[in-house]
Amino acid sequence: MKKIKLLLADDNEYTRTSIRQLLELDDAVDIVDEACNGLEVMEKVEALNPEIVLMDVNMPIMDGIETTRELTIKYPQVAVVLISINDEIQNFRQAMLAGAKEYLVKPLSAEELNQAIRQVTEIIREASDNQQVEVPPSLNRAENHKIVTVFGTKGGVGKSVVCTNLAVCAAQKYRGKVGLIDLDVQFGDLSIMMNVNPRMTIAELMQEGEKPSPDILENYLYERNGVHLLSAPNKPELSELVVARGVKEILNISRSMFTYTFVDTPSFVDEITLTALEEADIILLMISLDLPTIKNVKKGIDILRTLQLLSRTRLILNRSSGIAGLEPRDVERVLDMKIKAEVPSDGKLVVSSLNQGIPFVKMNPKAAVSKGIEAVFQVIENGRDV
Ligand SMILES: Nc1ncnc2c1ncn2[C@@H]1O[C@H](COP(=O)(O)OP(=O)(O)OP(=O)(O)O)[C@@H](O)[C@H]1O
Ligand SMILES: [Mg+2]
Repeated sequence: MKKIKLLLADDNEYTRTSIRQLLELDDAVDIVDEACNGLEVMEKVEALNPEIVLMDVNMPIMDGIETTRELTIKYPQVAVVLISINDEIQNFRQAMLAGAKEYLVKPLSAEELNQAIRQVTEIIREASDNQQVEVPPSLNRAENHKIVTVFGTKGGVGKSVVCTNLAVCAAQKYRGKVGLIDLDVQFGDLSIMMNVNPRMTIAELMQEGEKPSPDILENYLYERNGVHLLSAPNKPELSELVVARGVKEILNISRSMFTYTFVDTPSFVDEITLTALEEADIILLMISLDLPTIKNVKKGIDILRTLQLLSRTRLILNRSSGIAGLEPRDVERVLDMKIKAEVPSDGKLVVSSLNQGIPFVKMNPKAAVSKGIEAVFQVIENGRDV
């Protein structure tokens, strides 16, 4: 089953922690965030698009009933499950009138809570399936689906930052049709960048007895901003579980599911990175304007040439507006390759986006660095010619 995106609201931190512990017994539930009053709930629903809001009735500023009423009007697709200490029928009626789907009385058991969440999810998903508009057939055809591998032979060149923001940018056009896979299996940081706390990662997926299928892969994906993320293992030592053959299978399943699958890689070339390069329809080779990177990238280009992958490679310059060093035109001459798009430097926005776990294309879509990401996306959309 696709993960149930849930926002948890209670003004008491202790209660939130204990409810979180109960919910986390169920792998199908993904707590996208917490809120401590009704106003915060409204803001977070707008930003995070959860399916369920699990909320205490007694909260300051805007209580649970009033918030339910507002949610029902503004976001009718979101289901509210209310929790209260009060078991009187009058309170229950008030909750239902405001539009709540379920009313639970404290103290809660894990079983009762998770069963209620699953039942409500089933109801709302069935309703939304019935309302789904037909997807144009062109979008459904797997041959239109592309794997985009972000590659670079120098650490810290901006692969992960660009990969995450590109995926979120793509999801603005292809919402829900974008996958993101973290193949930096030792030190991958995409889950932090996307504000996901994954229990299920590529390491657990590798331990599945069966060959992966879309149904199986779905259990391991976490959705944020319209992007479905498969995270790197939670501990570096678990990376040993990830093997190239399994990665190849996962990439192919992901391609069948999503219009775009963006793949982040480490800065070294091992069997897993090679698989991500060979399976890619488009390779973004990331560079920045400093001598060590340029020297390194020449080696990267040699590898791509040997693998006969240069024709699907696009050279992308990150931090183009950074401290003066080399000139882009000189770099093009040295590498004998044209730079296809540039992402300017914006330390302030990039760092604050990383610290908050909100991709900068969301935080500030008008910033030059976000426009740079759009330009990269346009390169991807514009066909395969180099
Ligand atoms: N366009 C940019 N403007 C400002 N800072 C940037 C930009 N791109 C990346 N950075 C900074 O560079 C750092 C490294 O970026 P990132 O983690 O994406 O690199 P990476 O290539 O994935 O590194 P690694 O190889 O270690 O995984 C980030 O923490 C971020 O602060
Ligand atoms: Mg990285």
